[in-house]
This record gives sequence, C-alpha cells and structure tokens, in this order.
Amino acid sequence: MISDTKEMSLKGDYRPIGIFDSGVGGLSIAKAIAHQLPNENLIYVADTLYSPYGEKSVEFIQSRVNEISNILLSKSVKALVIACNTATVNAIDQLREKINIPIIGVEPAIKPAAQQSLTKNIGILVTQATAENSRFKNLIEQHKNDVQVHIQACPGLVELIEANKINTQECNTLLRRFIATLLTKNVDTLVLGCTHYPFLTDKIRHIVGNTMNLVETAVPVTLQLKRKLAEQNSLTTNKGPGQYSFLSSKVNRQQQQLFSDFWQGPLILQPL
Ligand code: DGL
Repeated sequence: MISDTKEMSLKGDYRPIGIFDSGVGGLSIAKAIAHQLPNENLIYVADTLYSPYGEKSVEFIQSRVNEISNILLSKSVKALVIACNTATVNAIDQLREKINIPIIGVEPAIKPAAQQSLTKNIGILVTQATAENSRFKNLIEQHKNDVQVHIQACPGLVELIEANKINTQECNTLLRRFIATLLTKNVDTLVLGCTHYPFLTDKIRHIVGNTMNLVETAVPVTLQLKRKLAEQNSLTTNKGPGQYSFLSSKVNRQQQQLFSDFWQGPLILQPL
C-alpha cells in the first residue's frame, strides 16, 4: 500500500484525491475541495450501507475506514480526506500507521470557536460516537482555555438527512430539541461537528437567530489538503476541470436522487 509520489510529480500529478464519509455529509467537504482545487480529479466514496457511523463501535468504524481506504488506494489516490468527524476521531491514528500518503481528517473546530466566543460558552453538535471519543475529549481539553464547552450528541439526525428528510417536521423537532439546552447556556458560538450538519445550516439559523455564530470546517480542511499536496509537489498541473466519480456501498434510485440533490448537480452514483 505504498504509493510513489516522486515520479508522478515530475510529470504533473493527475492521480485523484480520495474523499469519504458514511454518506452524503462529506459532500459538504467535497464541494469546498472542488471549489478550491477545480482542476483536481476527485473520487468520493459514501459508505451508506453502513451509515450512520455515529451509532457504531470504534472497532466497526475502524474496519470500515480501513476497507474504504484500501479501495481508494487501489485506485491510486494521492491523498485521502476523511470527510467525517466520527471516522476521523475514531480511526485516523491507526490509519496513519498503515499508509504513507497524506491523510487529512475533519475534526470539530473547537480551537477557532473557543477563540471567537465572547460569552465564553461554546456549543458542539456531534454524533454519539464522537461525543464519547477520547481523542475528541482531548481536543477540547487542549483548546478550551477558559471557555465552557457544551457537547450535544444528536442521535437520529444523520438518519433523517440520509433519508432526504431535512424539510420535515420530524427534523425540525429533533433539531429544536438538541439546540434547546444550548440556548439556555449563553452559547454564542456553535460548532457543527459532523459533516452532515452544514446541510442543516438554514434550519439551525432559523432556530438560533443571530444569537450564535456557526462554525464548520470545510474551508480549513481544504486549505490543509492544498498545503499537503503542495508540500509533496503533487498538486495537479491539469488546466481543465477535474473529473469526479461518486461511489457508494448502497446504490439505488433514491440514493442517486439524494446525491444529485446534495451535490446540486447531475452525477452518476456507482457501486463501490
Ligand atoms: N458525517 C459524519 C461525521 O462527520 C458521520 C455521520 C454518521 O455516520 O453518523 O461525523
């Protein structure tokens, strides 16, 4: 599983960037990458058959992350983006021990949120498996300084997004329930700690009004990816638009529609 970047960089590195998530959430990251690095080829993998990761054990998440990474490596990706907070906090360390291409993870943006907060109270919306994770807890200890951190796990939310039920009463009710406590804690900065949640930005904004800044990670993750590729001289020299492939462990008509809706453009979803 070792990839040779030196030879490729001499000719211009056209190898794709692999991006993956448990489902459509990582498209929020893929969109930012496509915007910032429009000439790069991208392969997006959704592990929808095994979604949501947020309700699974650490061992299960690690085995899925390893399986998908191997599939992406067999497609000669030059970097891997784990476009999933849950997979990053639960599986990135062991993955980095196994492979030697750049691996960019997505973690809840605690540091910028703590720096921005004027009320010294930040909220974090995450999946259950992130909320319970020790790497996530360490991240909070490392960056919170004098700020109170209010963690809110949101079981059920990813399932509704994956079922294309964002615009339903059920989704509104669940979201209101998760945010209600934070509204009583003088929170002025809210971290969207799951890549599915940026797709709920309008709904969250509707609930919190102007009382909170919403913080997510798509742009910093993209910049980190760009830095890593530049460092190893493997940014593409392709001048035309990048080619995109979308693969999933669950493909059917509904999934095809869901992906086109979230990508906001036509695409063909292929079996993994
Ligand atoms: N989108 C993912 C995250 O950022 C995971 C959602 C899930 O599968 O539970 O955590």
